[in-house]
Amino acid sequence: LIAFFQPKPLSGKTVLMTAGPTYEPIDPVRGITNISSGKMGYALARALVMAGAKVQLVSGPVALPTPQGVERIDVHTAREMHRAVMLRAAKADVFVGVAAVADYRSVEVAIDKIKKAGEGLTIELTRNPDILAEVASLPAAPFCVGFAAESQNLDVYASGKLAAKRLKLVVGNLVQDGMGGDTNQVVLFDADGSHPLPRASKTEVAAGIVAHLARMLDAAAN
Ligand code: CTP
Ligand code: CA
Repeated sequence: LIAFFQPKPLSGKTVLMTAGPTYEPIDPVRGITNISSGKMGYALARALVMAGAKVQLVSGPVALPTPQGVERIDVHTAREMHRAVMLRAAKADVFVGVAAVADYRSVEVAIDKIKKAGEGLTIELTRNPDILAEVASLPAAPFCVGFAAESQNLDVYASGKLAAKRLKLVVGNLVQDGMGGDTNQVVLFDADGSHPLPRASKTEVAAGIVAHLARMLDAAAN
């Protein structure tokens, strides 16, 4: 892998990225979250460092060590992640949204533990900011890469997100192919169409994504 990235194609580039889930509290002991081990994002952070990039990783709660050479900023909620990203986005050359951001949060967060009462409970939710779409719509937006984990219709949904969020690249996978495990099978969607990568370890998939990203950055610069 090291030999693969000689010379380092991303040296001099600052990459800001998100990874892991977000956690939206309901009360001190309960909350809403998304399933995400953070493994794909952390593998990507390692591959980006190996490719010579300066990497800032805004991470939701995960049980993973900080990759060497990565600046890690820990957050819990989508709004904390949003704030941490927006503080840094203008200085980044590339933004990669890998995080499984909770689309909704509870309108009210109880200070004390909610006691059980009655047969039902309704919790009102409200939309969280779309971090990736907001970064991509900045006047001097970094080169934006998104992830799309879908349970069906991968091509339609992933290429839809490429257009809707005005991204340069979307990494798509079917959740049944990647979630929680150490291997993944992804398809890259860009303006040229779709490019499937072979099923491989998350480390190898990350290297494939970085190689594709480096080629795109190179083409955009020339
Ligand atoms: N994303 C984000 N902020 C959000 C929601 C999503 O930055 N509030 C980013 C994710 O990190 C990912 C991409 O947007 O890179 C796509 O996320 P996904 O959940 O697949 O897309 P959504 O636009 O939220 O659509 P839906 O969940 O309805 O499929
Ligand atoms: Ca979502």
